[in-house]
Amino acid sequence: MKIVKSILVVLIIFSAACNSESKSQTEVISPNGNIQINFVLSAEGVPTYSITHKNNQVIKPSKLGFDLEGTTSLKDNFKIINTTKSSFNETWQMPWGEQIDVVNNYNDLKVELQETSELKRKLNIVFRVFDDGIGFRYEFPEQENLSELLITEENTEFNLTGDHKVWWIPGDWDIYEHLYSTSKFSEIDAKAKAGHGDLAQTSIPNNAINTPVTMRTESGLHLSFHEASLVDYSGMTLQVNTENNTMKSVLVGSDNTSYKVKQAVPFNTPWRTIQIAEEAKDLLASKLIVNLNEPNKLGDVSWFKPTKYTGIWWEMHLGKSSWDMASGKHGATTENAKAFIDFSAKNNIRAVLVEGWNTGWEHWIGFEDREGVFDFVTPYPDYDLQEVVRYGKEKGVDIIMHHETSAATETYEKQQDTAYALMQSLGIHAVKTGYVGKILPKGEYHHGQYMVNQYNNAVIKAAKYQVAINAHEPIKATGLRRTYPNTISREGLRGQEFNAWSSDGGNPPEHLPIVAFTRMLAGPIDYTPGIFDIKFNKWKKDNQVNTTIAQQLALYVVIYSPVQMAADLIENYEGNSALQFIKDVGVDWQETKVLNGEIGDFVTIARKERTSDNWFVGGITDENKRDITIDFNFLDDEVNYTATIYEDGKEAHWDNNPTDLNIRTIEINNQSKQKLHLAAGGGFAISLIKK
Ligand code: NOJ
Ligand code: CA
Repeated sequence: MKIVKSILVVLIIFSAACNSESKSQTEVISPNGNIQINFVLSAEGVPTYSITHKNNQVIKPSKLGFDLEGTTSLKDNFKIINTTKSSFNETWQMPWGEQIDVVNNYNDLKVELQETSELKRKLNIVFRVFDDGIGFRYEFPEQENLSELLITEENTEFNLTGDHKVWWIPGDWDIYEHLYSTSKFSEIDAKAKAGHGDLAQTSIPNNAINTPVTMRTESGLHLSFHEASLVDYSGMTLQVNTENNTMKSVLVGSDNTSYKVKQAVPFNTPWRTIQIAEEAKDLLASKLIVNLNEPNKLGDVSWFKPTKYTGIWWEMHLGKSSWDMASGKHGATTENAKAFIDFSAKNNIRAVLVEGWNTGWEHWIGFEDREGVFDFVTPYPDYDLQEVVRYGKEKGVDIIMHHETSAATETYEKQQDTAYALMQSLGIHAVKTGYVGKILPKGEYHHGQYMVNQYNNAVIKAAKYQVAINAHEPIKATGLRRTYPNTISREGLRGQEFNAWSSDGGNPPEHLPIVAFTRMLAGPIDYTPGIFDIKFNKWKKDNQVNTTIAQQLALYVVIYSPVQMAADLIENYEGNSALQFIKDVGVDWQETKVLNGEIGDFVTIARKERTSDNWFVGGITDENKRDITIDFNFLDDEVNYTATIYEDGKEAHWDNNPTDLNIRTIEINNQSKQKLHLAAGGGFAISLIKK
């Protein structure tokens, strides 16, 4: 497989500017003609947009504007001073990803506005219309009467055309780790989710939802709202008005300032995005979010290699060992790390994560004074970092570093250079970071401008030391992996860990069939699949994973991440023939095909490995069993594959019999079809190895 490194085609088809002082409306249409944005300046000079899909309204006229501190709002009395339309079509390549080539094709419209009132401030709104949705952003051009922005609120409206069905999580300012609710728009009650006892920090100030949020309209169209390129700004929540089916942006704030965003002009906001698809499965194929980000600024990042990994991790969540040493059952010992390295080397897994290796874990969660506690270079005495790294190298297994900051941002910032330099000196190219707890300094929130900058600056700094970051308790993914491809993965959802200890029964079988159509539209997910000991009664009688083992295998294909964990304890893998799938499955893809799916019900994805041309297929279902027929017509022509199918056994059921697994091997080509049975909470995984 030849991978061309640079951008393939950049084609600006046309660019037309027109001076349209008299005009108060304009429009822009997607390349295929299906989606149209209409921009209208109302009689009061209020910027307003609306959207149609195949001539049916999807977004009713919705206003755009800002409230600013120390000056009047920027929302009306505008005139259009210029509009520009252009088209763009390029194909760029992902250094790692769900596919190699990404088509970025859109028509755009820039509307330049100026106030007619005394201040004559200027504001541009740029719309991009793709075949799979739209994005728009505000641009504040350099100007005399506006040099600094103190934004107290962004008032971007999204007025819906009906009481849609919505898959949503509350607009928490501090965490995304909520279960999804499925309800009519008019029934959204975010505040009812406040105070969940399993969350290390949570704050839900409004009846608002976090993005990506996905909806199905009464006519069956799918809409997903999110944002792209969130840089030096606050995360956007969407406040819902359940009476008239409207939403309005509410930015995440800070208790320390009366404004929510501080910016010097010129400045562009993140893109506000709506992915639009007739079939739910087409949402998953959309690359709109990455397309709305700047091209790669790091150049060659081949020092990061997508990898499967194991880790000293699940054992802490089960209570078998601990992060700290004081408990007397420290997990991160040299000996334990070597056992994970040996196991990984034997099973085609090229990395091991070691959590709890550094000092400070005696004083992390539940303490107010967490600054100055964690140390990111000093190992506990029973962990010989150099020796573990050396041993791993000998076996062809890399160590993944762990930096739990406990949300003590000043301590982490101070130590970043030293910590990343240590990693570079050891040849370690990936770190999992964590931000558990209320943010220090007090009054800041995980999703506000202060933290957005923390997360982004860490990635930019880490790149200098050839370090890639997998952040937990992160800011939402907004496609920045295109610009900084060392942004490899993140949490930002209710992960597998909740199955180990949550007080509410863990993640129900419908969780991941919802996640695939919501959170996963934002970017890679470090979900940490592959739990084989589903009930883990030896460790926790009251908790379990709420899927079958076949579904755990399917997740390696369904949930995309360039770092994919085999999360269970070594002893639960040894001797289990299902391990063969984890051994075989790819982790970096040249092509992805979403074969079917309905939000919250089921989804099947096929991916072709970059290095081998082998295909892998994964399918998952919710609490309902179902039969699915797979047409293998996506396979390469005239190639025969040895297919190993890992499917739910006849008696399988996520609760009653989760480990009933049937493994069979057949021959398959692109003429083949296969009927598969998915148990309640089940799934299937197929490896298709070229003959
Ligand atoms: C929360 C993370 O999500 C989890 O994966 C990690 O083990 C703990 N924090 C400790 O850092
Ligand atoms: Ca977490």
